[in-house]
Amino acid sequence: MKIGVLGAMPEEVSDILDSFDEKTPQNVGDRTYWEGRWRGLDAVAVFSRWGKVASAATTAILISRFEVDHVVFVGVAGAIDPLLEPGDIVVATELIQHDMDASAIPGIERFEIPLLGRKRFVVDDRAVSLAVSAATDFVDGGFELAVPAEVRAAFSISRPRVVRGLIASGDRFIADVASVADLRRQLPDLQCVEMEGAAVAQVCFELGIPISVIRIISDRADHDAPIDFARFSEQVASVIAEGVASRFLDGLASRPRESQSAA
Ligand code: ADE
Repeated sequence: MKIGVLGAMPEEVSDILDSFDEKTPQNVGDRTYWEGRWRGLDAVAVFSRWGKVASAATTAILISRFEVDHVVFVGVAGAIDPLLEPGDIVVATELIQHDMDASAIPGIERFEIPLLGRKRFVVDDRAVSLAVSAATDFVDGGFELAVPAEVRAAFSISRPRVVRGLIASGDRFIADVASVADLRRQLPDLQCVEMEGAAVAQVCFELGIPISVIRIISDRADHDAPIDFARFSEQVASVIAEGVASRFLDGLASRPRESQSAA
């Protein structure tokens, strides 16, 4: 089994790459794909850059050229559900592209991907459970050691919650309360927003490869979001991403072979 690990920013994959047992770089286009071994599995890690086009193109290469069997996206997100706090971990059960709107064409609804005839990409239940277990295990077991007390205090993080639900992606960094309110109105079950997950999910769906998206809340998508996001990404995101993704890979590696290929 070969796992593709993606993050949109260097901070999101740096600790993961540091903990690879062995790795060799391969440049394709403007990206460096690090191929090697991690947690007993073949793995390829890459930082995709921001946005739907960058992450979709990177995913297509990860699948077609590096032949990964499961794609895992880790990174930060802005909270839409008001109960979410910085440090909380959201595991996607479904992903939607919030800026997809071809509804001016009769018969196509807002958020629907033309010709695919779907709005949401659904994540396999077993992959969701594995990611939730990995995140819970990290919060219970490794978080306090991995994130120093002064950093936790600086971001008012006590014990991160792990939630599962809908994640929306679009080519816009959301940093105003009106946009948050609009997204909540349109998508009442929405947990958080980011800029890649649903694009990666579309590529995985079309190529028949399972996906997992694990997001760490960095901000509240309000006017403070750009500042909170930058500080959080630098100081916390890579540590949580490594802690959760490593446990997720351990879970994948210990699954029976038939369910490895099915999920
Ligand atoms: N990633 C992290 N925070 C975000 C936000 N507020 N909007 C979009 N993507 C994000």
